[in-house]
Amino acid sequence: MYKVVVVTGASSGIGLSHAIYLTSLGYTVLGTSRKAEKINLEALKEIYLRDHTKWKFLNKKKNQVKPVKSKIPKKIKTNLDTLLRKIKFYSMDVTDDISVKKAMSKIETDATKLNGRGIDVLINNAGLSYFHSAEFLSMEDWKNTFETNLFGMVRVVKAVLPKMRERRSGQIINTSTLGAFISIPFQAHYSASKVAIKTFTEGLRIELKEFNIKVSTILPSDINTNFNINMHGLSTDEGTTDKSNELKTMLENPPEPKSSPYYDAVKRTWKVIVQNLIVAPPPLTISKTVAKIIKAKKPKVNYKSGTFEQKFLTFLIRRVVTDEFVDWLLPKYFGM
Ligand SMILES: NC(=O)c1ccc[n+]([C@@H]2O[C@H](COP(=O)([O-])OP(=O)(O)OC[C@H]3O[C@@H](n4cnc5c(N)ncnc54)[C@H](OP(=O)(O)O)[C@@H]3O)[C@@H](O)[C@H]2O)c1
Repeated sequence: MYKVVVVTGASSGIGLSHAIYLTSLGYTVLGTSRKAEKINLEALKEIYLRDHTKWKFLNKKKNQVKPVKSKIPKKIKTNLDTLLRKIKFYSMDVTDDISVKKAMSKIETDATKLNGRGIDVLINNAGLSYFHSAEFLSMEDWKNTFETNLFGMVRVVKAVLPKMRERRSGQIINTSTLGAFISIPFQAHYSASKVAIKTFTEGLRIELKEFNIKVSTILPSDINTNFNINMHGLSTDEGTTDKSNELKTMLENPPEPKSSPYYDAVKRTWKVIVQNLIVAPPPLTISKTVAKIIKAKKPKVNYKSGTFEQKFLTFLIRRVVTDEFVDWLLPKYFGM
């Protein structure tokens, strides 16, 4: 009997990796994207290969990188085209009530045809961020952050629950970030939305216990995806930056306007954020944790996943040191 997993935001980065990895483990994956009809498997392959490359800085300025090696397991690499072809994509904009209702109803019907039950696991992964000072981020962009990251997730959960509740089985995995423990400067809107996801998940987990629906949050560290490129595009209205010289272009163009009183601080923090991401672990790290959550008999509420340093930093900050120490440490960590 097929276990059907739905992954939102499966067209890129972590969601794409979940879709490929879970397919390689034998799950049937139904993925969503705002532009499913335009999805091109070659483009997805390119994103996946780039995200799973280990990069090394070429100079002291850390504005040039070279690929060192691929981090894709052989079993996946040799079957990548086949795995990608097995993933079925559906168009869904999580910010749009009608789009979510329509897509999730079609997905539930297709899942039932496949396994005689319906959707077994929902992985809420779609998300975005801007990079601006809290003062200069427009109210519209503040709202779009919550509309996508939190309310988008709530919409999809509301659409999937009636059938899961009826069947008294199912699992929901919501994507937050370690940035829910450490608020990231110039991404305060993002961290705020991700803290809300963590709290939302904790409440949902209690509400759904009597219906035998398992609910957890995954909290990734920095992961090397196109997240920052997409964030830069959203924050500058320029679309994606020059792909041929991605790192240099990004570093030379911090997203805050030059006229902003925050410009210098944004520039320094942006540099840390961009340089950290390019050498961060690949999305597969998070997909392996997600597979562990799906297989767990009694999944925990929160799963931190990614670099040891960042997981340790969140532990230190939230469990060990004083607020005064955090006040001293974080501006240093973010290069401010
Ligand atoms: N990368 C990291 O360091 C990191 C760390 C912690 C947590 N995360 C979280 O992990 C998740 C995935 O991030 P990523 O790094 O893989 O980023 P990404 O490469 O930018 O992918 C974002 C995905 O979200 C989808 N999406 C965005 N807006 C949407 C909307 N309105 N409706 C439906 N889908 C939408 C995009 O799909 P379309 O554009 O095709 O619609 C895309 O597939 C996010 O929730 C992010 O907050 C990332």
